Amino acid sequence: LWTTENIIDDSIARIRAQVGSDQVMLGLSGGVDSSVVAALLHKAIGDQLTCVFVDHGLLRHREGDQVMAMFAENMGICVIRADVEERFMNALAGKTDPEEKRKIIGREFIAVFDAESAKLQGVNWLAQGTIYPDVIESAGSKTGKAKVIKSHHNVGGLPEDMKMSLIEPLRELFKDEVRKLGVALGLPYNMVYRHPFPGPGLGVRILGEVKKEYADILRLADHIYIEELHKWDLYDKTSQAFAVFLPVKSVGVVGDARRYDYVVALRAVETIDFMTARWAHLPYEFLEHVSGRIINEIPRITRVTYDISSKPPATIEWE
Ligand code: XMP
Repeated sequence: LWTTENIIDDSIARIRAQVGSDQVMLGLSGGVDSSVVAALLHKAIGDQLTCVFVDHGLLRHREGDQVMAMFAENMGICVIRADVEERFMNALAGKTDPEEKRKIIGREFIAVFDAESAKLQGVNWLAQGTIYPDVIESAGSKTGKAKVIKSHHNVGGLPEDMKMSLIEPLRELFKDEVRKLGVALGLPYNMVYRHPFPGPGLGVRILGEVKKEYADILRLADHIYIEELHKWDLYDKTSQAFAVFLPVKSVGVVGDARRYDYVVALRAVETIDFMTARWAHLPYEFLEHVSGRIINEIPRITRVTYDISSKPPATIEWE
């Protein structure tokens, strides 16, 4: 019978048979797929697993610390955290074109990942959170192994001279099976059922040039929005929701003081496949409450707008 328990037992047996006493490395993003691979590999081979977590400063509110708390502290997994916020901010300085920004983020990500993995001695396996839909998606590509550091890379493929072999324990599973596996392996429900987050992170949610100052403002607004979605029991009713930073200024008044500062847009969509999506008809009372909190609690924001564009023609992300 193909139950979650059986899938886990079977995967563990296969992983052990495949890697024996070898060392395995995994790029951990905090997303569902790589998290489930981490939990599964840890259960199968314990400290033969080392994870590399690239914290590029474009993650959500406290996300980097949460990933470390979860995997390193709670589960006792060996996780190397590369704190490379400054490197990414420098690489992105002055860059405004969305495609160029994506390429820079992908390139820097792979460079950091390569540098960290080069420091590890005697690792012969690279684990990846490839799931079945990824396999189908990349079947048409030239190499058929298009998902390197899955969800982060949007450029390139496996380095030609890579000496490591690939291990992809989720290759035959659909997303809902991966989620069930995650819960059964002890990952928190909130993490396993989190909305998707793009590899380039807040880099594509800060329009135009990316700056740390903008990322810090956006993180707070996004955090308030997501927190309230949970409180109002709306989070699971939307497929994806997030805030977007608009680098334009708008006038406001707070008390007697005039303010002239930034704008954020709130986005929420309902979709099955993320190929098409309808903007979520969130209640006005909810939007009013969130807008009030954001403007009152974040001094650098004077205005909040709600995105009422569906896909197509608009995409889900703004860049
Ligand atoms: P769009 O904006 O294309 O987004 O309608 C569809 C889904 O894909 C996610 N997305 C990305 N994920 N790297 C990723 O890993 C990316 O560069 C990227 N761009 C968009 C987006 O969040 C949505 O779920």
